[in-house]
Amino acid sequence: MKDVTIDTITQAFLDYCSDDTDPRTMFVLQKLVEHLHAFAKETELSHAEWMRGLEFMFDAGKISDDERNEFVLISDVTGLSSLVDMIGSQHDGTSSSVLGPFHAVGAPLLPVGADLKKDNEGATVVVEGHVKRNDGTPVEGAVIELWQTATNGLYCSQDNEQGEFNLCCSMRTGADGRYAMTTVKPSPYKIPDDGPVGDLLRATGRDAWRPSHLHFIVKAEGLKPLVTEVFSDGDPYLDTDAVFGVRSDLIMDYVESHDLDTLPTDLEIGRNATVPYFKVDFDFVLVPDNT
Ligand code: BEZ
Ligand code: FE
Repeated sequence: MKDVTIDTITQAFLDYCSDDTDPRTMFVLQKLVEHLHAFAKETELSHAEWMRGLEFMFDAGKISDDERNEFVLISDVTGLSSLVDMIGSQHDGTSSSVLGPFHAVGAPLLPVGADLKKDNEGATVVVEGHVKRNDGTPVEGAVIELWQTATNGLYCSQDNEQGEFNLCCSMRTGADGRYAMTTVKPSPYKIPDDGPVGDLLRATGRDAWRPSHLHFIVKAEGLKPLVTEVFSDGDPYLDTDAVFGVRSDLIMDYVESHDLDTLPTDLEIGRNATVPYFKVDFDFVLVPDNT
């Protein structure tokens, strides 16, 4: 098409696309380009601003590698990751929340009651609960993965001082759907802010901090996999999470106790927990997977 105008260019783009294009691909692409064109028109985007945007994406590409994906961070801090999460999880199960870049793929499968704290600094935390279906029945054989920061605010993949899979595990629930482990209280931390995303946060006066949390993935046959996080009540960053991941049903009390006799009896740590210790009770509710 020759002589496209501000008013005809969007339709010209659509006319260029073949009728054989996969319908869902075509729909998503159409909406993307419509919104991009509308964005440029509404903002009267200047050449210099457009170039700045391209440079930003180029810089994000340069700083990304196998270990770090700045594009995921862009999606996180603009709220797109959480938006996609919420669109995919409008149901009556436990809320989902962002996966983040530090998922420890391949963490060892440990028995219910395992101790992850070992030599890590910090108070012992007993994390315990059940995996249930949304009709309340327990889920046997669900696989739970956990990963979290150490007291220094770093994940093991970011910190050479920590062993591989420190404070990470996977665990299979028994017939009663129960899981339990001892660990340490996670710490708040800053998302990586030494790249273009950090520049964006600073330019807009935003915090890079995330409230402290435990990451979980829960999977079970016939049920929708759940990617979520459990936050600590009272954390100073609950209302300013840089990646919009906090949902009310995911905020838990760390209940302080001095009484070793009330510890679950199947903990690997036995009665060797330091006091005071903390207890977090969290049940995961999974919904049927209809996809
Ligand atoms: C995290 O929770 O580990 C995380 C999530 C999004 C961006 C960066 C870190
Ligand atoms: Fe995290």
